[in-house]
Amino acid sequence: MSIRFRLLLSFMSVVIVSVIVFALAAYSLSVAVTGDFRSISGFYKVHYAVHPLSDEEDSLFIDLKYLAKHDPMRLKETLLLEDYDQQLKMVQAGLVVRDDERILYQTPTLHDVDLIGALPAYDLNNRSIRNTMNVGNRFFSYAKFDFYFSPEEQGSIFVIRERSPFAEVIRTLLPILIGMLAAILLLTGWLLYRYVTRKIIKPLDALRRSAEHITEGDLTFQLHSSSRDEVGQLVLTFDQMRRQLYDSVQLQLHYEENRKQLLSNISHDLRTPITTIKGYAEGIRDGVANTPEKLDKYVGAIHTRASDMEQLVDELLLYSKLDLNKEPFSFEQLMLLPFLKSVVEELAIDFDNERVVVSWLATGKDEFFVLADREKLKRVVVNLLSNCLKYMVSQPKRITIGMEEKDGFAIVQIKDNGPGIHPDALPHIFERFYREEPSRSKAAGGSGLGLAIAKQIIEGHGGEIGAESLPQQGTTIYFTLKIFEDRR
Ligand SMILES: Nc1ncnc2c1ncn2[C@@H]1O[C@H](COP(=O)(O)OP(=O)(O)OP(=O)(O)O)[C@@H](O)[C@H]1O
Ligand SMILES: [Mg+2]
Repeated sequence: MSIRFRLLLSFMSVVIVSVIVFALAAYSLSVAVTGDFRSISGFYKVHYAVHPLSDEEDSLFIDLKYLAKHDPMRLKETLLLEDYDQQLKMVQAGLVVRDDERILYQTPTLHDVDLIGALPAYDLNNRSIRNTMNVGNRFFSYAKFDFYFSPEEQGSIFVIRERSPFAEVIRTLLPILIGMLAAILLLTGWLLYRYVTRKIIKPLDALRRSAEHITEGDLTFQLHSSSRDEVGQLVLTFDQMRRQLYDSVQLQLHYEENRKQLLSNISHDLRTPITTIKGYAEGIRDGVANTPEKLDKYVGAIHTRASDMEQLVDELLLYSKLDLNKEPFSFEQLMLLPFLKSVVEELAIDFDNERVVVSWLATGKDEFFVLADREKLKRVVVNLLSNCLKYMVSQPKRITIGMEEKDGFAIVQIKDNGPGIHPDALPHIFERFYREEPSRSKAAGGSGLGLAIAKQIIEGHGGEIGAESLPQQGTTIYFTLKIFEDRR
């Protein structure tokens, strides 16, 4: 059974039970207030039949009875009757005198009541002098006495009291009241049902549909909820879960794409030297290298390609170790400026060969101590400097190295006046295997791992690395290292 149906059922039962209870209560109340009992076993009828009049009314009735017994003709005197009627009216009762079949006197308040047919027949033995009667919708209790005006002329006196002046009103009002109550209950029930449906059932439905979408592998939909209640929070949490799932799937796809790219790059970069090596080896085997000079040249070429391959495999190995956090760092305290100078010194021959001028930017405060892995940091600097060497083609070739301090970090900048990097390529140069020149030909550079390795190493030191460059305006690569101690 669905929640929706259960709710509907419970609302309906609340409505029905309430209406029944209200009807019973209202009916009992009306009976208690008015004494109109019709349907409940005549209890009140018996009560009023035994005690139709109050004590005052009864004593007036006894007076009238006395008169009827001893001086009946006086009961034809209108003035006397009016006097008695007046007294009865004070206690809210009325007087009726019957002479044979006609009404001799009828209290004015009962003028609109057709008593003739309703009054009981003569019972001159006066066996039942107290009773009740219904005239139309009205209900009366009475005490009566039958007598003879003369031997041929029968008479009756009635002291009458209306017992349920509100009965009719209640009887007509009750169905309207019950109807209104039922309508109000139905309306409330319907509104509640709609409220609950909107607040609970619909969001639950949306959740179910979303779960189905997820099962089918669709994570692109969105769930919204403006309410802050438990259901609203559930919907929001569910949507958050969907978003995270979506993100992790995207990441997974990205990794997958990366893996494919990596494989294809490695295959390409290994295939090229292997093909060359194979070519030269075949040349030797087929006797193409038929002079000692040629043979020397062939063997030399094979050696160079094999060295390139070795270097590539080494770089790859280092990169993947850094990537997996498997390469241990051995940090030591080192002074940055002398360290950088020693690295530049090691490359001095290359700079001389290429006629590169290296200059140092004085900042006034350049003796920073940092905690670093000497070997790895050297690898970073060598990678950056060899990029400058590799990509600067036209003279004059100039490299400027600068250092400054900012917020507890030493910032090292290596700037060249080479061809610069296109803005489209700039965001990608630290990605593994990325090279601005897409053909991946050996002439214009290496495998594209140099900056990726530098980035891994700098991040392993808790620093940052970045680049600023514009085409034809040189390139600046900077990296930061946390200053360990300032010995100034
Ligand atoms: N100083 C620079 N001037 C111009 N372009 C640069 C410079 N440094 C890097 N680049 C661009 O960034 C790319 C990535 O550099 P990275 O050092 O990672 O790879 P690589 O030099 O091509 O190969 P590897 O360093 O592995 O031998 C280079 O291919 C080049 O296009
Ligand atoms: Mg490089």
